[in-house]
Amino acid sequence: MEYQNNANYAQLLDNEDPLRSYRSKFFIPKQENGKECIYLCGNSLGLQPRSTRKYIEQELKDWEYLGVEGHFDAKNPWMPYHEILTDKMARIVGAQSDEVIVMNSLTVNLHLMMVSFYRPTAKRHKILIEGNAFPSDQYAVKSQIEFHGYSVTDSLIELIPRKEESTIRTEDIIKIIEKEGDSIALIMIGGLNYYTGQAFDMKTITEAGHRKGCKVGFDLAHAVGNLSLHLHDWNVDFAVWCTYKYLNSGPGGVAGCFIHEDHVKSKDIPRFTGWWGHDKETRFLMDDQFIPIPSAEGWQLSNAPILSMAALNSSLDIFEEVGIQSIQRKARNLTGYLEYLLFKIKSDSIDVITPNNKNERGSQLSIRVINSNKSLFDKITKKGVIADWREPNVIRVAPIPLYNSYSDVYKFVEVLKESLIFK
Ligand SMILES: Cc1ncc(COP(=O)(O)O)c(C=O)c1O
Repeated sequence: MEYQNNANYAQLLDNEDPLRSYRSKFFIPKQENGKECIYLCGNSLGLQPRSTRKYIEQELKDWEYLGVEGHFDAKNPWMPYHEILTDKMARIVGAQSDEVIVMNSLTVNLHLMMVSFYRPTAKRHKILIEGNAFPSDQYAVKSQIEFHGYSVTDSLIELIPRKEESTIRTEDIIKIIEKEGDSIALIMIGGLNYYTGQAFDMKTITEAGHRKGCKVGFDLAHAVGNLSLHLHDWNVDFAVWCTYKYLNSGPGGVAGCFIHEDHVKSKDIPRFTGWWGHDKETRFLMDDQFIPIPSAEGWQLSNAPILSMAALNSSLDIFEEVGIQSIQRKARNLTGYLEYLLFKIKSDSIDVITPNNKNERGSQLSIRVINSNKSLFDKITKKGVIADWREPNVIRVAPIPLYNSYSDVYKFVEVLKESLIFK
């Protein structure tokens, strides 16, 4: 696509955007002067759908009038409430219904999945992860290694980019898997790296891992609702994600988890258990012998956080209407336009470290600020841009297809350009 660098052209793209009406379905935060912010931070916290309040109010009303009976008699009975979300979520991650469960929070689910899929032995005890993985993932894998009596020095392999490069080449990942695979118990990588915005080739990595007998899981915090995913077809063993970023479920929203069909019925996979994972027919007989539900639901521990699920449900209904393919299509155009405008700036003070190959990224571009000059970020913030700064030197910006416009992207780059004049 041949883009143009002017406000009229951005407006033209907005006029032709098939998703343009969705912006009005979200609350856009405002600046002190009453004008809308340029919100490019949906990769950190997605915006609130205008419909969310109604979904939560329904549950508050049912609780008000029914009390405990709401578990069975609410408009959407609370007992099976999570089931409302399963198919909608499964469509977003490319999974079967029995492979997906909405529960807990992201890091909790990562630990639960490692209980089941990180089973180190003297010969095969290593975990392969990106060197710049999100800290919570680093803490989680390191604590699992130590929990099993191994040392992080011997058992953690970190993927790092080549010298002078910012992202990790797939060929280098495959090389490490082929070389070290016999000693790797688990490959656990962010499907899309939070810092660089690099999307990994999950299919190729999973195949390479399986050829060497490794289990393969992904943290999809930055991939879900952003990329088109095919977890079932890619044969991924497990995946975990949060829903408060691209899926707009609100701060601390309930998380998601995928366990491949090949594993959900297995009696040999150990797991931590709780009553909500127990066979639904006999759960309330209060027997002390655990019988797992033969699906991803069998990994549930506790009864469901209904208010948080109601918020998620409001956003998933928007995804149902739009479809993840259209979202990805617009993401590519919107991010492509952002990249084009950033390249036009031609400044020595910034560069983009996210891959320019559209297959290797989603909605986020990571702008590296030379000399780690955070004053640039502070200036754009003062001018109404909401993005984020990630130490040591990156401004992350993510135009979100559901509520960001081409004009947002154009205005952002204008603000960035003005702010680049360092005094
Ligand atoms: C890649 C990644 N992993 C883990 C986390 C931690 O998530 P939570 O606090 O929901 O466990 C985040 C949060 O932003 C994240 O981006």
